Amino acid sequence: MAEFKEAPVDATAGQKLLTWIDNRFPLTKLYKEHMGEYYAPKNFNFWYVFGSLALVVLVIQIVTGIFLVMHYKPDANLAFASVEYIMRDVPWGWLIRYMHSTGASAFFIVVYLHMFRGLLYGSYRKPRELVWIFGCAIFLCLMAEAFFGYLLPWGQMSYWGAQVIVNLFAAVPFVGPDLALLIRGDYVVSDATLNRFFSFHVIAIPLVLLGLVVAHIIALHEVGSNNPDGIEIKAKKDAQGRPLDGIPFHPYYTVHDIYALSVFLMVFSAVVFFAPEFGGYFLEYNNFIPADPLKTPAHIAPVWYFTPYYSMLRATTDLMVNVLVVLIALAAILAVLRGGFGAKGKLAVIVGALVAAGLLKAFDAKFWGVVVMGGAVIIMFFLPWLDRSLVKSIRYRPNWHKYIYGAFVLVFMVLGYLGIQPPSPTGELISQIGTLFYFGFFLLMPWWSRLGEFKPVPERVTFAAH
Ligand code: HEM
Repeated sequence: MAEFKEAPVDATAGQKLLTWIDNRFPLTKLYKEHMGEYYAPKNFNFWYVFGSLALVVLVIQIVTGIFLVMHYKPDANLAFASVEYIMRDVPWGWLIRYMHSTGASAFFIVVYLHMFRGLLYGSYRKPRELVWIFGCAIFLCLMAEAFFGYLLPWGQMSYWGAQVIVNLFAAVPFVGPDLALLIRGDYVVSDATLNRFFSFHVIAIPLVLLGLVVAHIIALHEVGSNNPDGIEIKAKKDAQGRPLDGIPFHPYYTVHDIYALSVFLMVFSAVVFFAPEFGGYFLEYNNFIPADPLKTPAHIAPVWYFTPYYSMLRATTDLMVNVLVVLIALAAILAVLRGGFGAKGKLAVIVGALVAAGLLKAFDAKFWGVVVMGGAVIIMFFLPWLDRSLVKSIRYRPNWHKYIYGAFVLVFMVLGYLGIQPPSPTGELISQIGTLFYFGFFLLMPWWSRLGEFKPVPERVTFAAH
Protein backbone atom coordinates (compact mmCIF):
# COMPACT_ATOMS: atom_id res chain seq x y z
CA MET A 1 0.00 0.00 0.00
CA ALA A 2 1.24 3.48 -0.87
CA GLU A 3 2.16 5.76 2.01
CA PHE A 4 -0.60 8.06 3.32
CA LYS A 5 0.01 11.69 2.33
CA GLU A 6 -1.01 14.65 4.50
CA ALA A 7 -2.48 17.80 2.93
CA PRO A 8 -0.53 20.98 3.92
CA VAL A 9 -2.08 22.84 6.86
CA ASP A 10 -3.05 25.81 4.69
CA ALA A 11 -4.64 23.59 1.99
CA THR A 12 -8.07 24.53 0.67
CA ALA A 13 -11.05 22.25 1.28
CA GLY A 14 -10.75 21.07 -2.35
CA GLN A 15 -7.07 20.16 -1.95
CA LYS A 16 -7.84 18.32 1.28
CA LEU A 17 -10.60 16.37 -0.41
CA LEU A 18 -8.27 15.47 -3.29
CA THR A 19 -5.58 14.26 -0.86
CA TRP A 20 -8.22 12.23 0.96
CA ILE A 21 -9.30 10.63 -2.35
CA ASP A 22 -5.71 10.13 -3.60
CA ASN A 23 -4.92 8.20 -0.42
CA ARG A 24 -7.69 5.78 -1.34
CA PHE A 25 -7.96 5.92 -5.16
CA PRO A 26 -5.23 6.95 -7.67
CA LEU A 27 -7.18 9.90 -9.08
CA THR A 28 -4.28 12.34 -9.51
CA LYS A 29 -2.05 9.52 -10.75
CA LEU A 30 -4.62 8.50 -13.39
CA TYR A 31 -5.16 12.11 -14.41
CA LYS A 32 -1.41 12.63 -14.87
CA GLU A 33 -0.86 9.37 -16.73
CA HIS A 34 -3.70 9.85 -19.17
CA MET A 35 -4.14 13.64 -19.45
CA GLY A 36 -1.78 16.13 -17.82
CA GLU A 37 1.40 14.13 -18.39
CA TYR A 38 0.37 12.00 -21.34
CA TYR A 39 2.71 13.28 -24.01
CA ALA A 40 1.13 13.17 -27.44
CA PRO A 41 3.05 14.09 -30.61
CA LYS A 42 2.83 17.81 -31.33
CA ASN A 43 2.02 17.29 -35.02
CA PHE A 44 -1.46 15.77 -34.70
CA ASN A 45 -3.80 16.91 -37.47
CA PHE A 46 -7.50 16.82 -38.27
CA TRP A 47 -7.46 13.02 -38.55
CA TYR A 48 -6.67 12.71 -34.86
CA VAL A 49 -10.01 14.03 -33.59
CA PHE A 50 -12.10 10.99 -34.47
CA GLY A 51 -11.03 8.86 -31.51
CA SER A 52 -12.44 11.37 -29.03
CA LEU A 53 -15.48 11.92 -31.23
CA ALA A 54 -16.11 8.16 -31.20
CA LEU A 55 -16.01 8.31 -27.40
CA VAL A 56 -18.56 11.13 -27.40
CA VAL A 57 -20.88 9.25 -29.76
CA LEU A 58 -20.56 6.18 -27.54
CA VAL A 59 -21.74 8.26 -24.58
CA ILE A 60 -24.60 9.77 -26.63
CA GLN A 61 -25.74 6.27 -27.62
CA ILE A 62 -25.62 4.95 -24.07
CA VAL A 63 -27.41 7.92 -22.50
CA THR A 64 -30.15 8.16 -25.16
CA GLY A 65 -30.43 4.34 -25.10
CA ILE A 66 -31.11 4.36 -21.36
CA PHE A 67 -33.98 6.82 -21.85
CA LEU A 68 -35.41 4.89 -24.81
CA VAL A 69 -35.51 1.68 -22.76
CA MET A 70 -37.68 3.48 -20.19
CA HIS A 71 -40.53 3.62 -22.73
CA TYR A 72 -39.76 0.92 -25.30
CA LYS A 73 -41.53 -2.46 -25.11
CA PRO A 74 -39.60 -5.52 -26.38
CA ASP A 75 -42.74 -7.38 -27.42
CA ALA A 76 -43.67 -8.20 -31.00
CA ASN A 77 -47.22 -6.92 -30.38
CA LEU A 78 -46.17 -3.68 -28.73
CA ALA A 79 -42.71 -2.74 -30.02
CA PHE A 80 -43.72 -0.72 -33.10
CA ALA A 81 -46.44 1.17 -31.22
CA SER A 82 -44.11 1.86 -28.28
CA VAL A 83 -41.66 3.57 -30.65
CA GLU A 84 -44.51 5.66 -32.09
CA TYR A 85 -45.53 6.48 -28.51
CA ILE A 86 -41.97 7.67 -27.80
CA MET A 87 -42.10 9.83 -30.95
CA ARG A 88 -45.50 11.39 -30.27
CA ASP A 89 -46.33 11.29 -26.56
CA VAL A 90 -43.18 11.01 -24.47
CA PRO A 91 -41.91 14.53 -23.68
CA TRP A 92 -38.76 15.05 -25.82
CA GLY A 93 -39.05 11.42 -26.87
CA TRP A 94 -38.67 12.35 -30.55
CA LEU A 95 -35.37 14.07 -29.74
CA ILE A 96 -34.02 11.12 -27.79
CA ARG A 97 -35.00 8.70 -30.54
CA TYR A 98 -33.63 10.82 -33.39
CA MET A 99 -30.39 11.35 -31.46
CA HIS A 100 -30.07 7.59 -31.05
CA SER A 101 -30.86 6.76 -34.69
CA THR A 102 -28.63 9.55 -36.03
CA GLY A 103 -25.98 8.53 -33.48
CA ALA A 104 -25.86 5.04 -35.01
CA SER A 105 -24.93 6.43 -38.43
CA ALA A 106 -22.63 9.06 -36.90
CA PHE A 107 -20.83 6.29 -35.04
CA PHE A 108 -20.00 4.51 -38.28
CA ILE A 109 -18.98 7.72 -40.09
CA VAL A 110 -16.63 8.65 -37.24
CA VAL A 111 -15.25 5.13 -36.85
CA TYR A 112 -14.68 4.66 -40.60
CA LEU A 113 -12.70 7.92 -40.66
CA HIS A 114 -10.83 6.88 -37.51
CA MET A 115 -9.88 3.55 -39.10
CA PHE A 116 -8.83 5.23 -42.32
CA ARG A 117 -6.47 7.47 -40.35
CA GLY A 118 -4.89 4.29 -38.95
CA LEU A 119 -4.42 3.05 -42.51
CA LEU A 120 -2.92 6.34 -43.71
CA TYR A 121 -0.30 6.62 -41.01
CA GLY A 122 0.43 2.94 -40.37
CA SER A 123 -0.87 3.30 -36.81
CA TYR A 124 -1.50 -0.46 -36.63
CA ARG A 125 2.18 -1.33 -36.93
CA LYS A 126 4.58 -2.28 -34.19
CA PRO A 127 4.18 -1.46 -31.29
CA ARG A 128 0.46 -0.65 -31.80
CA GLU A 129 -0.77 -4.03 -33.05
CA LEU A 130 -2.99 -4.55 -30.01
CA VAL A 131 -4.45 -1.05 -30.24
CA TRP A 132 -5.51 -2.01 -33.77
CA ILE A 133 -6.74 -5.48 -32.83
CA PHE A 134 -8.88 -4.08 -30.01
CA GLY A 135 -10.13 -1.54 -32.57
CA CYS A 136 -11.12 -4.27 -35.03
CA ALA A 137 -12.93 -6.14 -32.24
CA ILE A 138 -14.73 -2.86 -31.40
CA PHE A 139 -15.75 -2.58 -35.04
CA LEU A 140 -17.19 -6.12 -35.01
CA CYS A 141 -19.12 -5.33 -31.83
CA LEU A 142 -20.40 -2.14 -33.35
CA MET A 143 -21.74 -4.05 -36.33
CA ALA A 144 -23.42 -6.58 -34.04
CA GLU A 145 -24.84 -3.76 -31.91
CA ALA A 146 -26.29 -1.99 -34.95
CA PHE A 147 -27.71 -5.21 -36.37
CA PHE A 148 -29.45 -6.23 -33.12
CA GLY A 149 -30.72 -2.70 -32.53
CA TYR A 150 -32.23 -2.47 -35.97
CA LEU A 151 -34.77 -5.21 -35.23
CA LEU A 152 -36.16 -3.38 -32.20
CA PRO A 153 -38.53 -0.86 -33.90
CA TRP A 154 -40.19 -3.92 -35.48
CA GLY A 155 -40.81 -2.23 -38.83
CA GLN A 156 -40.82 -3.99 -42.20
CA MET A 157 -37.09 -3.42 -42.76
CA SER A 158 -36.25 -4.49 -39.22
CA TYR A 159 -38.13 -7.71 -39.71
CA TRP A 160 -37.05 -8.62 -43.23
CA GLY A 161 -33.48 -7.44 -42.78
CA ALA A 162 -33.11 -9.74 -39.78
CA GLN A 163 -34.83 -12.54 -41.70
CA VAL A 164 -32.33 -12.25 -44.59
CA ILE A 165 -29.24 -12.01 -42.41
CA VAL A 166 -30.19 -14.79 -39.99
CA ASN A 167 -31.06 -17.03 -42.94
CA LEU A 168 -27.52 -16.57 -44.20
CA PHE A 169 -26.25 -18.51 -41.22
CA ALA A 170 -28.37 -21.44 -42.41
CA ALA A 171 -25.96 -21.71 -45.37
CA VAL A 172 -23.10 -22.79 -43.08
CA PRO A 173 -22.38 -26.47 -43.88
CA PHE A 174 -23.64 -29.12 -41.44
CA VAL A 175 -24.64 -26.88 -38.50
CA GLY A 176 -26.25 -24.02 -40.48
CA PRO A 177 -29.97 -24.70 -39.95
CA ASP A 178 -29.48 -25.35 -36.23
CA LEU A 179 -27.34 -22.23 -35.94
CA ALA A 180 -30.04 -20.09 -37.57
CA LEU A 181 -32.62 -21.63 -35.22
CA LEU A 182 -30.42 -20.86 -32.24
CA ILE A 183 -30.04 -17.21 -33.26
CA ARG A 184 -33.76 -16.73 -33.98
CA GLY A 185 -35.07 -18.86 -31.12
CA ASP A 186 -37.83 -19.85 -33.54
CA TYR A 187 -38.37 -21.06 -37.11
CA VAL A 188 -39.01 -17.51 -38.30
CA VAL A 189 -38.08 -14.13 -36.85
CA SER A 190 -40.60 -13.72 -34.03
CA ASP A 191 -41.21 -12.39 -30.53
CA ALA A 192 -38.52 -14.79 -29.22
CA THR A 193 -36.02 -13.23 -31.66
CA LEU A 194 -37.03 -9.72 -30.61
CA ASN A 195 -36.47 -10.56 -26.94
CA ARG A 196 -33.02 -11.99 -27.43
CA PHE A 197 -31.93 -9.22 -29.80
CA PHE A 198 -33.13 -6.69 -27.21
CA SER A 199 -31.09 -8.40 -24.53
CA PHE A 200 -27.96 -8.41 -26.71
CA HIS A 201 -28.49 -4.81 -27.82
CA VAL A 202 -29.02 -3.26 -24.40
CA ILE A 203 -26.69 -5.24 -22.21
CA ALA A 204 -24.42 -7.96 -23.66
CA ILE A 205 -22.81 -6.09 -26.54
CA PRO A 206 -22.55 -2.68 -24.79
CA LEU A 207 -20.69 -4.36 -21.90
CA VAL A 208 -18.20 -5.97 -24.26
CA LEU A 209 -17.92 -2.75 -26.26
CA LEU A 210 -17.14 -0.67 -23.18
CA GLY A 211 -14.54 -3.20 -22.01
CA LEU A 212 -12.90 -3.17 -25.43
CA VAL A 213 -12.83 0.64 -25.60
CA VAL A 214 -11.10 0.75 -22.21
CA ALA A 215 -8.59 -1.89 -23.39
CA HIS A 216 -8.08 0.09 -26.64
CA ILE A 217 -7.15 3.25 -24.77
CA ILE A 218 -5.03 1.51 -22.12
CA ALA A 219 -3.07 -0.21 -24.91
CA LEU A 220 -2.67 3.10 -26.75
CA HIS A 221 -1.44 4.93 -23.66
CA GLU A 222 1.01 2.13 -22.91
CA VAL A 223 2.82 2.56 -26.22
CA GLY A 224 1.92 6.19 -26.98
CA SER A 225 0.20 7.68 -30.01
CA ASN A 226 1.52 7.47 -33.53
CA ASN A 227 1.41 10.66 -35.66
CA PRO A 228 1.12 11.79 -39.30
CA ASP A 229 4.87 11.33 -39.82
CA GLY A 230 4.84 7.81 -38.35
CA ILE A 231 7.89 8.66 -36.21
CA GLU A 232 8.26 7.26 -32.67
CA ILE A 233 8.50 10.36 -30.48
CA LYS A 234 9.68 8.28 -27.52
CA ALA A 235 13.00 7.74 -29.32
CA LYS A 236 14.08 11.33 -28.52
CA LYS A 237 13.56 12.49 -24.94
CA ASP A 238 14.72 15.46 -22.83
CA ALA A 239 16.62 15.25 -19.53
CA GLN A 240 13.32 14.72 -17.63
CA GLY A 241 12.43 11.79 -19.87
CA ARG A 242 9.72 13.70 -21.77
CA PRO A 243 9.56 13.16 -25.54
CA LEU A 244 11.06 16.21 -27.29
CA ASP A 245 8.22 16.22 -29.80
CA GLY A 246 5.49 15.54 -27.26
CA ILE A 247 3.03 17.95 -25.67
CA PRO A 248 0.71 17.21 -22.73
CA PHE A 249 -2.65 15.88 -23.88
CA HIS A 250 -4.32 18.35 -21.54
CA PRO A 251 -4.72 21.24 -22.31
CA TYR A 252 -3.35 21.07 -25.87
CA TYR A 253 -5.41 18.24 -27.28
CA THR A 254 -8.44 18.68 -25.05
CA VAL A 255 -8.84 22.10 -26.71
CA HIS A 256 -8.24 20.58 -30.15
CA ASP A 257 -10.87 17.92 -29.46
CA ILE A 258 -13.41 20.37 -28.00
CA TYR A 259 -13.13 22.42 -31.18
CA ALA A 260 -13.77 19.30 -33.29
CA LEU A 261 -16.62 18.35 -30.98
CA SER A 262 -18.34 21.71 -31.48
CA VAL A 263 -18.18 21.31 -35.27
CA PHE A 264 -19.41 17.73 -34.95
CA LEU A 265 -22.33 18.78 -32.74
CA MET A 266 -23.39 21.42 -35.27
CA VAL A 267 -23.54 18.85 -38.06
CA PHE A 268 -25.14 16.25 -35.77
CA SER A 269 -27.82 18.72 -34.61
CA ALA A 270 -28.50 19.81 -38.19
CA VAL A 271 -29.28 16.20 -39.08
CA VAL A 272 -31.26 15.49 -35.90
CA PHE A 273 -33.42 18.61 -36.26
CA PHE A 274 -33.73 19.02 -40.01
CA ALA A 275 -33.16 15.66 -41.70
CA PRO A 276 -33.38 12.82 -39.18
CA GLU A 277 -34.29 10.28 -41.85
CA PHE A 278 -31.49 11.63 -44.02
CA GLY A 279 -33.25 10.79 -47.25
CA GLY A 280 -34.03 7.26 -46.09
CA TYR A 281 -30.36 6.44 -45.41
CA PHE A 282 -30.38 6.84 -41.63
CA LEU A 283 -33.99 5.72 -41.13
CA GLU A 284 -35.35 3.68 -44.01
CA TYR A 285 -38.84 4.59 -45.21
CA ASN A 286 -40.02 0.99 -45.21
CA ASN A 287 -39.37 0.89 -41.50
CA PHE A 288 -42.27 3.26 -40.85
CA ILE A 289 -44.54 0.34 -41.79
CA PRO A 290 -45.13 -2.22 -38.99
CA ALA A 291 -43.49 -5.64 -39.51
CA ASP A 292 -45.69 -7.96 -41.54
CA PRO A 293 -44.46 -11.57 -41.75
CA LEU A 294 -46.85 -12.18 -44.65
CA LYS A 295 -45.65 -9.33 -46.86
CA THR A 296 -42.07 -9.24 -48.12
CA PRO A 297 -40.95 -5.73 -49.23
CA ALA A 298 -39.99 -5.54 -52.93
CA HIS A 299 -36.46 -4.43 -52.14
CA ILE A 300 -34.60 -5.31 -48.94
CA ALA A 301 -31.35 -3.44 -48.25
CA PRO A 302 -29.39 -3.03 -45.05
CA VAL A 303 -28.55 0.39 -43.61
CA TRP A 304 -25.77 2.22 -45.53
CA TYR A 305 -22.91 1.29 -43.21
CA PHE A 306 -23.38 -2.42 -43.93
CA THR A 307 -23.82 -2.13 -47.68
CA PRO A 308 -20.17 -2.52 -48.79
CA TYR A 309 -20.14 -5.93 -47.10
CA TYR A 310 -23.64 -6.75 -48.37
CA SER A 311 -22.39 -6.06 -51.91
CA MET A 312 -19.55 -8.51 -51.39
CA LEU A 313 -22.07 -11.11 -50.23
CA ARG A 314 -24.21 -10.58 -53.33
CA ALA A 315 -21.12 -10.61 -55.56
CA THR A 316 -20.25 -14.15 -54.48
CA THR A 317 -22.16 -16.07 -57.15
CA ASP A 318 -21.28 -19.41 -58.78
CA LEU A 319 -19.39 -17.47 -61.44
CA MET A 320 -17.36 -15.68 -58.79
CA VAL A 321 -16.51 -19.01 -57.12
CA ASN A 322 -15.24 -20.26 -60.51
CA VAL A 323 -13.12 -17.13 -60.91
CA LEU A 324 -11.66 -17.77 -57.45
CA VAL A 325 -10.81 -21.36 -58.42
CA VAL A 326 -8.99 -20.07 -61.53
CA LEU A 327 -7.15 -17.45 -59.45
CA ILE A 328 -6.03 -20.09 -56.96
CA ALA A 329 -4.81 -22.32 -59.82
CA LEU A 330 -2.88 -19.41 -61.37
CA ALA A 331 -1.34 -18.43 -58.02
CA ALA A 332 -0.28 -22.05 -57.41
CA ILE A 333 1.28 -22.37 -60.89
CA LEU A 334 3.12 -19.06 -60.39
CA ALA A 335 4.34 -20.13 -56.95
CA VAL A 336 5.61 -23.48 -58.26
CA LEU A 337 7.34 -21.93 -61.28
CA ARG A 338 8.83 -18.82 -59.66
CA GLY A 339 8.92 -19.40 -55.90
CA GLY A 340 12.07 -20.68 -54.24
CA PHE A 341 10.38 -23.82 -52.92
CA GLY A 342 12.01 -27.27 -52.72
CA ALA A 343 10.24 -30.36 -54.08
CA LYS A 344 8.29 -30.79 -50.81
CA GLY A 345 7.27 -27.13 -50.81
CA LYS A 346 5.99 -27.38 -54.38
CA LEU A 347 4.00 -30.48 -53.50
CA ALA A 348 2.51 -28.65 -50.50
CA VAL A 349 1.49 -25.69 -52.73
CA ILE A 350 -0.18 -28.02 -55.23
CA VAL A 351 -2.00 -30.03 -52.55
CA GLY A 352 -3.05 -26.81 -50.78
CA ALA A 353 -4.42 -25.33 -54.01
CA LEU A 354 -6.30 -28.53 -54.86
CA VAL A 355 -7.87 -28.67 -51.39
CA ALA A 356 -8.86 -24.97 -51.55
CA ALA A 357 -10.37 -25.36 -55.03
CA GLY A 358 -12.14 -28.56 -53.98
CA LEU A 359 -13.64 -26.87 -50.91
CA LEU A 360 -14.76 -23.89 -52.97
CA LYS A 361 -16.66 -26.16 -55.33
CA ALA A 362 -17.94 -28.50 -52.60
CA PHE A 363 -20.12 -25.93 -50.84
CA ASP A 364 -22.82 -23.59 -52.03
CA ALA A 365 -21.83 -20.10 -53.31
CA LYS A 366 -24.23 -18.66 -50.71
CA PHE A 367 -22.02 -20.08 -47.96
CA TRP A 368 -18.90 -18.59 -49.54
CA GLY A 369 -20.75 -15.29 -49.73
CA VAL A 370 -21.10 -15.41 -45.96
CA VAL A 371 -17.41 -16.29 -45.66
CA VAL A 372 -16.46 -13.40 -47.96
CA MET A 373 -18.64 -10.97 -46.01
CA GLY A 374 -17.18 -12.05 -42.65
CA GLY A 375 -13.69 -12.35 -44.10
CA ALA A 376 -13.81 -8.74 -45.29
CA VAL A 377 -13.85 -7.64 -41.64
CA ILE A 378 -11.68 -10.43 -40.20
CA ILE A 379 -8.88 -9.70 -42.68
CA MET A 380 -8.41 -6.29 -41.07
CA PHE A 381 -7.17 -7.96 -37.88
CA PHE A 382 -4.10 -9.14 -39.83
CA LEU A 383 -3.16 -5.76 -41.25
CA PRO A 384 -0.19 -5.24 -38.89
CA TRP A 385 1.45 -8.32 -40.42
CA LEU A 386 0.33 -7.80 -44.00
CA ASP A 387 1.91 -4.37 -44.38
CA ARG A 388 5.65 -4.76 -45.04
CA SER A 389 6.28 -1.17 -46.13
CA LEU A 390 9.64 0.28 -45.06
CA VAL A 391 7.93 3.29 -43.47
CA LYS A 392 4.72 3.73 -41.52
CA SER A 393 3.20 6.92 -42.83
CA ILE A 394 1.78 7.43 -46.30
CA ARG A 395 3.79 10.68 -46.38
CA TYR A 396 7.04 8.80 -46.97
CA ARG A 397 5.73 6.02 -49.16
CA PRO A 398 6.04 5.98 -52.94
CA ASN A 399 3.46 8.30 -54.52
CA TRP A 400 1.63 5.49 -56.26
CA HIS A 401 0.75 3.97 -52.88
CA LYS A 402 -1.53 6.99 -52.44
CA TYR A 403 -3.39 6.05 -55.60
CA ILE A 404 -3.83 2.51 -54.32
CA TYR A 405 -5.30 3.86 -51.07
CA GLY A 406 -7.47 6.24 -53.08
CA ALA A 407 -8.71 3.36 -55.25
CA PHE A 408 -9.42 1.33 -52.11
CA VAL A 409 -11.64 4.07 -50.69
CA LEU A 410 -13.38 4.52 -54.02
CA VAL A 411 -14.02 0.78 -54.37
CA PHE A 412 -15.37 0.65 -50.82
CA MET A 413 -17.78 3.50 -51.57
CA VAL A 414 -18.88 2.01 -54.90
CA LEU A 415 -19.55 -1.30 -53.13
CA GLY A 416 -21.52 0.64 -50.53
CA TYR A 417 -23.57 2.34 -53.24
CA LEU A 418 -24.25 -0.90 -55.10
CA GLY A 419 -25.35 -2.59 -51.89
CA ILE A 420 -28.19 -0.09 -51.56
CA GLN A 421 -29.35 -0.61 -55.17
CA PRO A 422 -31.61 -3.47 -56.28
CA PRO A 423 -29.55 -6.27 -57.88
CA SER A 424 -28.65 -5.83 -61.57
CA PRO A 425 -26.25 -7.69 -63.91
CA THR A 426 -23.95 -4.63 -64.29
CA GLY A 427 -24.03 -3.93 -60.57
CA GLU A 428 -23.15 -7.56 -59.91
CA LEU A 429 -20.15 -7.46 -62.24
CA ILE A 430 -18.86 -4.22 -60.72
CA SER A 431 -19.31 -5.65 -57.19
CA GLN A 432 -17.36 -8.72 -58.22
CA ILE A 433 -14.46 -6.65 -59.50
CA GLY A 434 -14.69 -4.47 -56.36
CA THR A 435 -14.66 -7.52 -54.09
CA LEU A 436 -11.57 -8.91 -55.84
CA PHE A 437 -9.87 -5.52 -55.49
CA TYR A 438 -10.78 -5.29 -51.78
CA PHE A 439 -9.28 -8.70 -50.99
CA GLY A 440 -6.37 -8.18 -53.38
CA PHE A 441 -5.51 -4.95 -51.55
CA PHE A 442 -5.04 -6.88 -48.30
CA LEU A 443 -3.81 -10.28 -49.49
CA LEU A 444 -1.23 -8.89 -51.90
CA MET A 445 -0.09 -6.21 -49.45
CA PRO A 446 2.98 -8.18 -48.28
CA TRP A 447 4.16 -7.89 -51.89
CA TRP A 448 3.08 -4.44 -53.11
CA SER A 449 3.67 -2.54 -49.88
CA ARG A 450 7.45 -3.14 -50.23
CA LEU A 451 7.68 -1.96 -53.83
CA GLY A 452 8.64 1.49 -55.08
CA GLU A 453 10.90 4.28 -53.99
CA PHE A 454 10.43 5.34 -50.38
CA LYS A 455 11.19 8.89 -49.23
CA PRO A 456 13.63 9.62 -46.41
CA VAL A 457 11.89 9.80 -43.02
CA PRO A 458 13.01 12.83 -40.96
CA GLU A 459 14.57 12.35 -37.50
CA ARG A 460 11.98 14.56 -35.81
CA VAL A 461 8.30 15.17 -36.58
CA THR A 462 7.49 17.92 -39.07
CA PHE A 463 5.56 20.73 -37.46
CA ALA A 464 4.70 24.27 -38.51
CA ALA A 465 3.53 26.50 -35.64
CA HIS A 466 0.07 27.93 -36.23
C1 HEM B 1 -16.03 2.93 -30.18
C2 HEM B 1 -15.08 3.02 -31.08
C3 HEM B 1 -13.71 3.60 -30.81
C4 HEM B 1 -13.33 4.49 -29.87
C5 HEM B 1 -14.18 5.18 -28.79
C6 HEM B 1 -11.91 4.73 -30.08
C7 HEM B 1 -11.16 5.60 -29.32
C8 HEM B 1 -9.85 5.97 -29.62
C9 HEM B 1 -9.15 7.08 -29.04
C10 HEM B 1 -9.75 8.04 -28.00
C11 HEM B 1 -7.91 7.12 -29.58
C12 HEM B 1 -6.86 8.18 -29.32
C13 HEM B 1 -7.17 9.42 -30.15
C14 HEM B 1 -6.92 9.23 -31.63
O1 HEM B 1 -5.81 8.78 -31.98
O2 HEM B 1 -7.84 9.51 -32.43
C15 HEM B 1 -7.80 6.01 -30.50
C16 HEM B 1 -6.68 5.67 -31.23
C17 HEM B 1 -6.59 4.63 -32.13
N1 HEM B 1 -7.65 3.83 -32.55
FE1 HEM B 1 -9.54 3.88 -31.84
N2 HEM B 1 -11.47 3.95 -31.12
C18 HEM B 1 -12.54 3.24 -31.61
C19 HEM B 1 -12.54 2.37 -32.66
C20 HEM B 1 -11.41 2.00 -33.38
C21 HEM B 1 -11.40 1.08 -34.49
C22 HEM B 1 -12.65 0.40 -35.04
C23 HEM B 1 -10.09 0.97 -34.89
C24 HEM B 1 -9.51 0.14 -35.99
C25 HEM B 1 -9.98 -0.95 -36.45
C26 HEM B 1 -9.29 1.83 -34.06
C27 HEM B 1 -7.91 1.99 -34.17
C28 HEM B 1 -7.16 2.94 -33.48
C29 HEM B 1 -5.73 3.16 -33.65
C30 HEM B 1 -4.78 2.36 -34.56
C31 HEM B 1 -5.38 4.21 -32.80
C32 HEM B 1 -3.98 4.82 -32.63
C33 HEM B 1 -3.84 5.88 -33.66
C34 HEM B 1 -2.52 6.59 -33.65
O3 HEM B 1 -1.88 6.66 -32.60
O4 HEM B 1 -2.15 7.07 -34.75
N3 HEM B 1 -10.11 2.44 -33.16
N4 HEM B 1 -9.00 5.33 -30.51
